[in-house]
Amino acid sequence: MAFTIKVNGATQSVDVDGDTPLLWVLRDVLGMTGTKFGCGMALCGACTVHLDGAAVRSCVTPVESVGDSAITTIEAIGATPAGAKIQKAWLEREVVQCGYCQSGQIMSASALLASNPRPSDADIDDAMSGNICRCGTYARIRDAIKLAAQG
Ligand code: FES
Ligand code: FES
Repeated sequence: MAFTIKVNGATQSVDVDGDTPLLWVLRDVLGMTGTKFGCGMALCGACTVHLDGAAVRSCVTPVESVGDSAITTIEAIGATPAGAKIQKAWLEREVVQCGYCQSGQIMSASALLASNPRPSDADIDDAMSGNICRCGTYARIRDAIKLAAQG
């Protein structure tokens, strides 16, 4: 079945089953591999994208549920004010280790900063708690979000 979705400002037509996870549509149909597969069960956050600015787990988001919502992925988050600040702070604080979780981390952090420009430690913990990092970059992530909030 054909679905029309809006990804990073572009309208895309994809021919997939309605229950296909958005993650597979992005990666396998559209070839946008910046969004990562980790667990497939909404447990790790690696697949995080934005729907109308809200962070969602694309591995458990059926494409038929997306409708007219604007999808933003890691490929375009740097074009948003909050995403640009987060990516700059990530570089300044050298957050990344292996990198696998990081697109999801940046998407969650960007959604947080866009909705809450001065997040408290508790706000950061709350927004980021679903994003797992096997490399343990959590302290640098929190530091980078605070730096981005000052920008
Ligand atoms: S791959 Fe979606 S939350 Fe882990
Ligand atoms: S940087 Fe390696 S899993 Fe997070």
